[in-house]
Amino acid sequence: MTASRLGSLLDRSIVFSFDATGFRRHQRNFATESERDLHDQDVLITGGTAGIGEAAARALVRRGARVTLWARNPTRGKQAADRIGAAFTPVDLGDLERVAIAAREFTPKALAAVVLNAGAMPLKRTLTHAGHELIWASQVLGHLMILRVLHARGLLGPETRGIWVSSGGMYSQRLDLSDLTWANGYQRHTAYADAKRAQVMLGEQLAVRWPTVPMAVMHPGWVQTDAVKHSMPLFYALTRPILRTPAQGADTIVWLAARKQTPRSGLFWLDRTPQPTHLRSATKSPPADTTALVEQLFADTDVWMTAAENP
Ligand SMILES: NC(=O)c1ccc[n+]([C@@H]2O[C@H](COP(=O)([O-])OP(=O)(O)OC[C@H]3O[C@@H](n4cnc5c(N)ncnc54)[C@H](OP(=O)(O)O)[C@@H]3O)[C@@H](O)[C@H]2O)c1
Repeated sequence: MTASRLGSLLDRSIVFSFDATGFRRHQRNFATESERDLHDQDVLITGGTAGIGEAAARALVRRGARVTLWARNPTRGKQAADRIGAAFTPVDLGDLERVAIAAREFTPKALAAVVLNAGAMPLKRTLTHAGHELIWASQVLGHLMILRVLHARGLLGPETRGIWVSSGGMYSQRLDLSDLTWANGYQRHTAYADAKRAQVMLGEQLAVRWPTVPMAVMHPGWVQTDAVKHSMPLFYALTRPILRTPAQGADTIVWLAARKQTPRSGLFWLDRTPQPTHLRSATKSPPADTTALVEQLFADTDVWMTAAENP
């Protein structure tokens, strides 16, 4: 069997693609590429105080970038910022008014990348003050809110790469907008996969809506972090020896942010390689659902655009 045939079989197994052996196998094909100079350039990373986001922050600080981390826990945030050599702002991505204000107050000199990485999978259904379910609010609406405010302020342009951190878990899910608050019974894995699917679709749509802003969505594979340990203890126990390190999970984020050549906008990436967004036709949505998603997300964030404009 040829190496490429074996590689494509291993990729189709999912396990031996998303795990650390998959990373190491894919890494053998990484090209040597020039990087842009990130000195005196800003990078905003949501959820950069732990796990994959922290690993990305470290790598970008090493390249000279001025990195700002947004997350909820101020103690953990300040400690992480000190460890990494970054700045920290306390922001709960599920609190859309706070997100809009923080995005208005964020004053980068030259914004090289916005990494939309914050994520969690709460054990119990949690509604925000505004009545949104927390996974949806923080990972989809909150991240769109950041981009919309920065875009309205003229801070997103060809040099600013938007990088969404989705999940391979989204492959299991067709977008379902029918019960976004999970009033009929909370299923956290489905809620998470739905939000991650929405991130992929939204990333594609923003690439069309804002053609001058390079937009990428990636997934990190299976990575050894607290999120996996606490939210999926059985999965963690079974897969621990083969999980990726946070640096391996963050590799594509750093590559997308740092490579000299602008990544083609609107693609979905794993290990520096564009990926299909569906593994089976059952997860594909009709175009009307994509339109409905984008309209709903823009309508749901509109009200806080005003908060961002009027202090
Ligand atoms: N680990 C994996 O195998 C894996 C696989 C696929 C995708 N991902 C995705 O990768 C991203 C990072 O995950 P991770 O595994 O590195 O998790 P992690 O180690 O638990 O880190 C999550 C980060 O997000 C922050 N965060 C969570 N909820 C937030 C909120 N509402 N507002 C602001 N910040 C918030 C956390 O800080 P605070 O708690 O202080 O807010 C922390 O900094 C997530 O989007 C996750 O879905 C991970």
